Amino acid sequence: MKIIVTGGAGFIGGNFVHYMLSEHPEDRIVCLDQLTYAGNMETLAPVADHPNFRFVRADIADRESVFPLFEQEQPDAVVHFAAESHVDRSIENPGIFLKTNVIGTGVLMDASLQFKVKRFHQVSTDEVYGDLPLDRPDLFFTEQTPLHTSSPYSASKAAADLLALSYFRTYGLPVTVSRCSNNYGPYHFPEKLIPLMITNALRDIPLPVYGTGENVRDWLYVIDHCRAIDRILRAGSPGEVYNVGGHNERTNLQVVRTIVERLGKSTDLITFVTDRPGHDRRYAIDPTKISESLGWEPTTRFEQGIDLTIQWYLENRNWWERIINGEYREYYEKMYGKR
Ligand code: NAD
Ligand code: TYD
Repeated sequence: MKIIVTGGAGFIGGNFVHYMLSEHPEDRIVCLDQLTYAGNMETLAPVADHPNFRFVRADIADRESVFPLFEQEQPDAVVHFAAESHVDRSIENPGIFLKTNVIGTGVLMDASLQFKVKRFHQVSTDEVYGDLPLDRPDLFFTEQTPLHTSSPYSASKAAADLLALSYFRTYGLPVTVSRCSNNYGPYHFPEKLIPLMITNALRDIPLPVYGTGENVRDWLYVIDHCRAIDRILRAGSPGEVYNVGGHNERTNLQVVRTIVERLGKSTDLITFVTDRPGHDRRYAIDPTKISESLGWEPTTRFEQGIDLTIQWYLENRNWWERIINGEYREYYEKMYGKR
């Protein structure tokens, strides 16, 4: 199979590229990535010389770049990760989220139709379902839960999902959609909760918890997500949506305390800061459909995954130190300086 992977220089896309080249070395992987602030060639360094890997730098919203690439590569499948992915940045600057997440997805699907791609997989998020109340632990997101978004990020992802499903119904493009809960693991950009807390704790600087820290996220180790997408790509049915999650719900404060404890740091580092506007309370996935129809199950529990993740950040200081010493500093000052 020849697969165009968009956003492969980012967190989940990068892990997916590594996973695919190791699990299916016969497949050709063409990574299409613009290398925004979130894209990092160092994430792809371990596979750069793989004979079945090619990297192309381009904007997914730029038809003049995307169509010639599809014409040249004639891909069998597209796995679409490329996105603006951070809720806090979407609150500051929503416009780029619309361009990349909505228009970019549309351009990729137009190219997929023209060059008769056999599968277009849209990597989406559980955030399209909005949030669940904290006092109803019996409620979970299923594929039937209505879309009800809170942030410009989740709204742009929901728009892209609907556009993708419309291309299935209207044009017969063989689209699948996965909606996954929060991922964590190696190569996670340090603006997101878990890597931010690990890298701050390692530098003994404050750990900024939004609001009361009672918001709940459902954490999935990134390789389990990669395995789910691989399953959907090979055995999923066009037109279907699959929720992906592993029942690993934790409050943010529990997550931060676990990291502090594992690193042997003081809980005095934990600092409560102004809450995020529109902050979603709880995400929780019901993964029954993907489990029963495709036999996917998560393999890494949170306790094991967080240890693997912390270990990776300890062993790969160069990777994240280069990031936090660059333009990330300005971002951090802007977002946390006066919070
Ligand atoms: P990320 O921000 O780490 O990486 C995004 C990648 O996309 C980067 O390499 C960036 O350079 C690239 N990119 C951005 N704009 C582009 C453009 N216009 N053209 C080409 N490339 C562009 O994101 P991530 O956390 O790896 O998330 C990947 C996908 O998974 C996203 O679609 C996101 O919505 C979805 N998702 C993420 C999570 C999570 O917990 N991180 C959970 C569920 C779903
Ligand atoms: P994040 O990693 O941004 O993912 P998402 O908002 O897409 O779920 O945030 C995870 C949770 O952690 C969310 O409830 C917001 C919270 N959070 C903090 O408390 N402090 C922080 O510095 C960050 C980045 C997030």
